[in-house]
Amino acid sequence: MSREQWRSQSGFLLAAVGSAIGLGNIWRFSYLAYEHGGGAFLLPYLIALVTAGGPLLVLEYAIGHERVGSAPLAYSKIHPRWEWLGWWAVTFVMFGIVLYYTAIMSWCLNYFILSIDLGWGKDPNAYFFSGFLEVSDSPNQIGGVRGKILAGIAVAWFASWIIVYRGVQGGIERANKVMMPLLLVLTLILVAWSASLEGATVGLRAYLTPDFSQLSDPKVWIDAYSQIFFTLSLGFGIMIAYASYLPERSDITGHAVLTAGINSGYSLLAGCAVFSVLGFMAYNQGKDLSDVVTQSIGLAFVAYPTAIGLMPAGPVFGAVFFLCLFVAGLSSVISIIEAFVSAAVDKFGCSRRYLVSAVTALGFLGSIVFSTRAGLLWLDIVDHFVTHYALVVVGILECVVVGWLFSISSLRHHVNRVSTFRLARGWDWLIRLFVPGVLAVILVGDLVRELQRPYGRYSWAALIWIGWGWLLLTLLLAFTIASRPWRTNHRALGGRSSPEATDAG
Ligand code: PHE
Repeated sequence: MSREQWRSQSGFLLAAVGSAIGLGNIWRFSYLAYEHGGGAFLLPYLIALVTAGGPLLVLEYAIGHERVGSAPLAYSKIHPRWEWLGWWAVTFVMFGIVLYYTAIMSWCLNYFILSIDLGWGKDPNAYFFSGFLEVSDSPNQIGGVRGKILAGIAVAWFASWIIVYRGVQGGIERANKVMMPLLLVLTLILVAWSASLEGATVGLRAYLTPDFSQLSDPKVWIDAYSQIFFTLSLGFGIMIAYASYLPERSDITGHAVLTAGINSGYSLLAGCAVFSVLGFMAYNQGKDLSDVVTQSIGLAFVAYPTAIGLMPAGPVFGAVFFLCLFVAGLSSVISIIEAFVSAAVDKFGCSRRYLVSAVTALGFLGSIVFSTRAGLLWLDIVDHFVTHYALVVVGILECVVVGWLFSISSLRHHVNRVSTFRLARGWDWLIRLFVPGVLAVILVGDLVRELQRPYGRYSWAALIWIGWGWLLLTLLLAFTIASRPWRTNHRALGGRSSPEATDAG
């Protein structure tokens, strides 16, 4: 069975950018920037991009391309014992991150419709938490499904299913060729529009003025490095799978630079729109910028609706904003469904279409808990654990496995053979020592904080059952799948470069 390929190099690039640009670029990036005082966040963010994001993106493209396989196949071709790592990556994203991610997409859809007549009323804060989500008092009080949220979740999964079902070329590549230009145009409209609002400069100044005093706060650095991971879809197994569909002659480093550059450029751009709107709102209400938003999650669903209610032609602005979020989210969701399905096809050789349908159906069922009244609380806990632990651990192990168990210099030679600009030897050491080192420091710091006081003031029981439980369950699933025998002969085929690259050690 021959492996499907992208129709064109630009098709691959757009799909990778589509995966990278997601809710994380608008919702997560701006609230992190906001939380850390705007400009204070940009410097650590850019440093994290250059020292860890870029090098790891090259690594993921390189192993997908050289080993020709989805994450579990690629790792198992490096060393059979590490197959589980690939499964864990695709599992905790597919059955963790994406389950609540589609819930946020559903909120966006609902808010898209609400924008039309400013349906959130005079008090968007009360509306969001009490009227819309009806958040319960604790994660144990599930308290029934919210119909509108569930409906939105169903739309998100259905749209993803239609796209991935049609395959890599006919589905993912085609859809991204429409979605990405659309997203860019809509975002440019938002940026220009928000910059023209009165008071916008106040927000922009806060956003673009660096604040060096913040750099001594480790939290800023931790958030910057984890955001780079999240936003580039690193450690998700996605970029590995996408690169495995590239033809032999493909510019790996060039693609990595473009993907990372476009993705972060997009975040910076979206940040401009977000901060201009905050500036406008502060000006309009005669408040300080720091007083207009109280909660991170409230940025998109409380602060924005408030501002939309104040501006001329607000409903149109609101509709465009929430549509952007939805489209950005959709192009990311399809990438993880593909990464999981591609892994299962590589291993079991079963029908792709059947798998896409089964995985989507399971995903939808799993999302239901995030449509309940406790949904926001569960989302908060699962997001915290998955992005702080699973993602970081996979990142560390990925560097160790490729850097130490595989001939990383042969991988570099492979990259240099096909790419336009060459990787220097320093890259080996970034992967072998620097990146895992930084991630290990982050991990330890996080763990210490975790044990000192319960995250988010939830009960220890809720954190253990939901947070740690989620990690353990996905890990168990990964080990179980990895222990099943291979039904295909892909593993025997090795990689694209010379045979010595396959040596372990
Ligand atoms: N890169 C995405 C973002 O920034 C993260 C993501 C990718 C989430 C794929 C889910 C699936 O939003």
